[in-house]
Amino acid sequence: MEVFIYQKYAEMSQAAAKVVADIINLKPDAVLGLATGSTPLGLYKELVRMHKEETLDFSHVTTFNLDEYVGLPPGHTQSYHYFMHENLFKHINIEPQNIHIPSGTTSNYKAFCQWYEQRIEQCGGIDVQILGIGSDGHIAFNEPGSSLGSRTRIKTLSKETIDDNTRFFKKKENVPIYAITMGVGTVLEARKLLLLASGANKAKAIADAIEGPVSCMCTASVLQLHPDSSLFLDNEAAGKLKMRDYYEWIQAKKPGAPASS
Ligand code: GLP
Repeated sequence: MEVFIYQKYAEMSQAAAKVVADIINLKPDAVLGLATGSTPLGLYKELVRMHKEETLDFSHVTTFNLDEYVGLPPGHTQSYHYFMHENLFKHINIEPQNIHIPSGTTSNYKAFCQWYEQRIEQCGGIDVQILGIGSDGHIAFNEPGSSLGSRTRIKTLSKETIDDNTRFFKKKENVPIYAITMGVGTVLEARKLLLLASGANKAKAIADAIEGPVSCMCTASVLQLHPDSSLFLDNEAAGKLKMRDYYEWIQAKKPGAPASS
């Protein structure tokens, strides 16, 4: 697990985008796992810039999104379909048939979840999974108590998540209560995990994820189990880390280390 701390959100976003771009440049048909939320917006903006100014090519890239609200059709302005289209897909040269986002309106969730899992496998698995973190420590919509072996399924959102997400809806009653989400086990199968966090309201969840025990009470803590996971944090999100000096020491010394893989 690697921890990178940046003074500013923009720096954090650019550094994370470079990791994703390097993967695409090395493997043009890379499979990306994508996240929604305000945190990855800077990363998507930077990928769009790289596409427009540095010819970063998405024409052979395949994507799988982590989650979607149950009940919201793709055209709903708060759906994750809409978010992805507005903030990334419509600005790059990705083929529409290579985009996968869980359906929030399928008539058969069980079959859809199974198909989603199979489709990830058919595409060769996810090369890099981008993640945000909820203030309750969730990744995707794997709320506290989610099995660490869970697969794509329906989850009931926690009250904390509903409160957090009320800011995007006109009133609390409009926030969906259920979501369809990749499981923790699904996420752990990605070859690389890249978790981004920004702001003081994420500081406790980040400290729990990095320095707490691996626990279903903070599903982001499973990054500790993954052989290639990185956390990109801004100054505020890193605010409650006890070993912050240590991570910064490693970050400073890393460029001089011999390559081991
Ligand atoms: C939702 C999403 C998560 C995301 C989280 C944090 O719960 N399902 O994938 O990480 O929001 O969002 P934000 O980045 O806006 O704080």
